[in-house]
Amino acid sequence: MAVLKIKGGKKLSGEVNVQGSKNAILPMLAACILCKDFVRIRHCPKISDVYAMIHLLETLGCDVTWEDDAVVVDARTIQSAKLVEQQARVMRSSIILAGAMLGREGKIEISYPGGCSIGTRPINLHLKAFRKMNVQITETEENMICTTSRLTGEDIELDFPSVGATENVILAAVLADGMTTLRNAAREPEIVELCKFLRKMGASITGEGSERIVIKGVTSLHGADYQVMCDRIVLGTYIAAIAGAGGEADIKVNCVSQLGEVCKVYEQMGVTIEKTDSGLYVQSPGKLNKVDLIRTRPYPGFPTDMQSQTMAVLTKAQGTSIIIENLFEGRYKTVSELRKMGASITVEGRAAIIKGVKALTGANVEAKDLRGGAALIIAGCMAEGCTTIADIQYIERGYENIVDCYKKLNVNITLA
Ligand code: EPZ
Repeated sequence: MAVLKIKGGKKLSGEVNVQGSKNAILPMLAACILCKDFVRIRHCPKISDVYAMIHLLETLGCDVTWEDDAVVVDARTIQSAKLVEQQARVMRSSIILAGAMLGREGKIEISYPGGCSIGTRPINLHLKAFRKMNVQITETEENMICTTSRLTGEDIELDFPSVGATENVILAAVLADGMTTLRNAAREPEIVELCKFLRKMGASITGEGSERIVIKGVTSLHGADYQVMCDRIVLGTYIAAIAGAGGEADIKVNCVSQLGEVCKVYEQMGVTIEKTDSGLYVQSPGKLNKVDLIRTRPYPGFPTDMQSQTMAVLTKAQGTSIIIENLFEGRYKTVSELRKMGASITVEGRAAIIKGVKALTGANVEAKDLRGGAALIIAGCMAEGCTTIADIQYIERGYENIVDCYKKLNVNITLA
């Protein structure tokens, strides 16, 4: 199996672009099912989660082709309503096809999305909302069968602002009978992007980005041509790499305003982050301040998807920092790998206590999950000597052209 090899200790410099957003494109690809037409989405990242979602769309009967960085979905014909194969089990995001298929066909038989390395990933909030919208759900050992004679618009309040549950309700509501008011909705930028995309397809949605979204069911949707926004977590990962290794770089990006708490935390560490005409200028002295306490929260709080990367950066900060991971119980798996590189981290339940050390040392480590793998790239840039990262398939789920991108930032990185 291929491994990433990084020779660390160099300051970062240069200029890099930011790929399209994984967590926006996945629900948008599901949304394509809602129209019997062609849909083109430009700036689509070539990552394995996108390839997996495309495979599921093709399993349902869509034709999907690439035109440079645009993906073109022909959703005129749906031939199946069953996603019970391994692929659906493997990819957590497959559940997002349920809302779209209920809107299009009024039925879907789908495997329970597997838990993944960061947690059990329940879907109770999705199913509770579907049942309220006149969906009957029968559950077998491995699969569930969702059917409805007619989706009805309803008043729904989520027990937790779940991103996936918010997306699934929106996808089911756009063609439902009547009005759906969704309260305690997730406010992530990816929700806003999905709603802008659906409006381009003819949907009637207001309130996205707030905790109350109103969707007025329409009779049909049509095709669209849309450019997906940049990936704010890939952007944050670049900021973390520059912060940890030191140096300065220009990041070409159009989603600067979505970093919320991330910029505040990195500026507390001593990193300079300035808006430029084409994105962001990021500069780091290398020696960073600790951060007393970081709690991961739903947007606009500090994103859980930036937790592992930030932990890596804080391993060399001056002093002790504390992270509380509130979203996913399994998101500290990379601590063991960072310890192999000399980090001093103690985990107590949801809390990670990171005591800054003078230096990290290159080591042979393994990616345990997507963002933890990205954290190891950052630690490899920070460490003295050579680091190899195995199981990079986790990282390739969400990061496009890793070697090319980090080489542009003066990182000595190769695929071996
Ligand atoms: C989305 O996952 C993202 N994935 C995740 O990014 C991200 O970490 C997460 O939102 C939070 O921002 C995609 O968009 C594809 P949730 P999702 O439903 O929708 C609990 C990455 O690294 N919950 O908001 O699965 C759940 O257990 C990935 O790019 C229920 O209890 O997240 C968790 O504690 C990782 N019941 C919390 O809510 C449910 O029915 C947040 O989950 C659903 C969720």
